[in-house]
Amino acid sequence: MEPMRLQKYLARAGVASRRKCEELIAAGRVKVNGATVRELGTKVAPGVDAVEFDGEAVALSGETVVIMLNKPAGYLTAMSDARGEDTVAKLVPVGDYPGLFPVGRLDRDTTGLLLFATDGELGNRLLHPSRGVGKCYVAEVAGVLSEGERRRLEEGVELDDGMTAPARCEVLSARSDGSRCTVALSIHEGRKRQVRRMLAAVGHEVLALDRTTFGALSLGGLPRGQWRLLSSEEVALLDA
Ligand code: URA
Repeated sequence: MEPMRLQKYLARAGVASRRKCEELIAAGRVKVNGATVRELGTKVAPGVDAVEFDGEAVALSGETVVIMLNKPAGYLTAMSDARGEDTVAKLVPVGDYPGLFPVGRLDRDTTGLLLFATDGELGNRLLHPSRGVGKCYVAEVAGVLSEGERRRLEEGVELDDGMTAPARCEVLSARSDGSRCTVALSIHEGRKRQVRRMLAAVGHEVLALDRTTFGALSLGGLPRGQWRLLSSEEVALLDA
């Protein structure tokens, strides 16, 4: 790996955000080769220079970095957009983790759990249909799903790209005036706009859509618009 700025090294190693790492350096909590360094421009060579934070060695392996974002509505799942639309790249630390890219996609107006990885192979593995990673979506829909419609979604509905695989569907709540309801739909496929199209196929327009889980991972308390690094245990769980 190329030499890099100390704050970038620390951020990449998962110590804290790059900004926070700058504060840690300025506060004299970081040593390089045994000497305290307070200059933010200091460059270090991964695998050559010994970096310590609060007396603990900070190693930067070439390990895959995986980030979970709680995506807000209004952002395209892309790292850039020729028309200048807002993309999710604005929300994740691309400067600290070059090569970060989204694992799959959420529509512009879909919110919730979106993963990013620095390892393209991992992304491909997770998205491969043979793996069938389960994802749960919570949808606010127009009208109230009947029991028959709920069952059709579970058994499979005909879309223009074929029948959907078996899914789980539950009506979580419904307005008493019948104007809308909230539905949890768990699917193991990843076709384009699949949840919106499945619900449209049984006659219900999606008004809002949120992804709450991806495989064994869930958003937990991660606030909308915020990201966090996955631990190596979480990455292993995902890639099992
Ligand atoms: N299904 C959809 O319809 N939209 C998404 O963003 C994700 C799944």
